[in-house]
Amino acid sequence: MEKRILTGDRPTGRLHLGHFVGSLQNRVRLQHEYDTYILIADVQALTDNFEHPEMLRQNVFEVALDYLAVGLDPERVKIVVQSMVPELAELTIYFMNLVTVATLERNPTVKEEIKQRNFKRGVPVGFWSYPISQAADITIFKAHLVPVGEDQLPMIEQAREIVRRFNGLYGKVLIEPRAMLGTVARLPGTDGGAKMSKSLNNCIYLSDPPDTLRKRVMSMFTDPTRIHPTDPGHVEGNPVFTYHDTFNPDKAEVEELKERYRKGTVGDVEVKQKLHAALDAFLAPIRERRAQYESTPARVREIIMEGTRKARAVAQQTMDEVRSAMKLSYFE
Ligand code: TRP
Repeated sequence: MEKRILTGDRPTGRLHLGHFVGSLQNRVRLQHEYDTYILIADVQALTDNFEHPEMLRQNVFEVALDYLAVGLDPERVKIVVQSMVPELAELTIYFMNLVTVATLERNPTVKEEIKQRNFKRGVPVGFWSYPISQAADITIFKAHLVPVGEDQLPMIEQAREIVRRFNGLYGKVLIEPRAMLGTVARLPGTDGGAKMSKSLNNCIYLSDPPDTLRKRVMSMFTDPTRIHPTDPGHVEGNPVFTYHDTFNPDKAEVEELKERYRKGTVGDVEVKQKLHAALDAFLAPIRERRAQYESTPARVREIIMEGTRKARAVAQQTMDEVRSAMKLSYFE
């Protein structure tokens, strides 16, 4: 059997450069080697956006456009809407027996997210237990590899634990998945904060038009200890240079800028202008592909429908095996 990839994103907004280096890049690179399923995780997104279903509905389409824009090949990759694969909900219920409350309470990513969200009426059970449904996402497609950003590692670990428990109890039906991290573990925000995050407004989006890109780059945080362009500056931990290292293919130019920055012979403006040029060149083909697909929404809809249909067939097959392993196939 061809090895499979499963990964996904919550449709809460358009995708940004952090998504690209964390996971999208690996998906594009591996799409011809692996049978690839990409989940637009609207059910997971509902767990903290259940009051705004219309926002998610709009963003399912936006996220699909971002996938196609970065070069995921719709002939090859299955783009899947999570809610349209109800077998996922069924598997989640069975998995719930295999995870303790204490384990969920220890999940560092969920803990951190709960802190950020500051749920007024307490933490919804759906949100708190989403690592279980994410384990179902991964295992129902029998994925071997899960390209994700660093923050998702606890989810993959939880999925692995569930698989071991399930296979131990009911027989070897499921595959224990491996995480694959991106080239950059975590891309800082334009404000120098730990990561790009929509709520912090420190993102560069894959779909940012040229003027927005320019504004975002020219207003980036640099070395806070440097006041004049003639002051020696710090390159390490400086987000402008982190982005140069990640997105500027002209390594000689980057080295030269770093050297001059350390000596105080180049201003922030020049460093940013060169970063802007590099990012603009990087985003140009992505923008162009996005525009093409945006002009054919019916085609995009068809791609999502077709991907979801194929994925559902795989999910149904796995569920037949799961039910039979669990002695739940009564009428056969
Ligand atoms: N939790 C992921 C995120 O917030 C989205 C996601 C849902 C996912 N299901 C998945 C990622 C399965 C990898 C595998 O971005």
